[in-house]
Amino acid sequence: MMAEEKELRVQKIKDGTVIDHISAGESLSVLKILGIMGREENIVSIVMNVSSHSLGRKDIVKVEGRELNPEELDKIALVAPRSTINIVRNYVVVEKQKPRLPKMIKGIVKCANVTCISNSNEPADSMFYVENDDPLRLRCYYCSRYLEKDDIIRQF
Ligand code: CTP
Ligand code: ZN
Repeated sequence: MMAEEKELRVQKIKDGTVIDHISAGESLSVLKILGIMGREENIVSIVMNVSSHSLGRKDIVKVEGRELNPEELDKIALVAPRSTINIVRNYVVVEKQKPRLPKMIKGIVKCANVTCISNSNEPADSMFYVENDDPLRLRCYYCSRYLEKDDIIRQF
């Protein structure tokens, strides 16, 4: 079966955001990092392990009635760097974006080192250098502790 036919497992949406080309198995991490727990009123569809020409297998997440903001796009870059984020209005894809990791990540992720100054009462927000984006590897600006994708997903 063609990829297009498989995608028809879930219908087109009228308005909202489609996160496509998520590496297979990572859709739940995307939801987690976005804080989407299903308690909101938005309809959320998740498709896992459909075939994709470029990825072999991929996941898709469709969030209806909500356009993700730039901060949320940055978060997606942490767990699904190869995804495509489509903004849909009135059934049409009006915007297609690749999540882009900034060179530094500020405030989104906590350092795994409990004695790091960013975890103390000092007014030092967490800050990381992005050393590698896929597989993700961050290095704390303050204490040089490395963080990998699993460390980050665990925080959300
Ligand atoms: N989509 C949707 N509802 C719409 C329009 C699009 O759910 N009203 C979904 C499609 O099913 C697809 C994604 O949004 O998963 C992107 O749509 P589109 O740009 O039309 O598909 P492609 O051209 O295949 O995208 P790409 O080039 O990024 O692979
Ligand atoms: Zn640190």
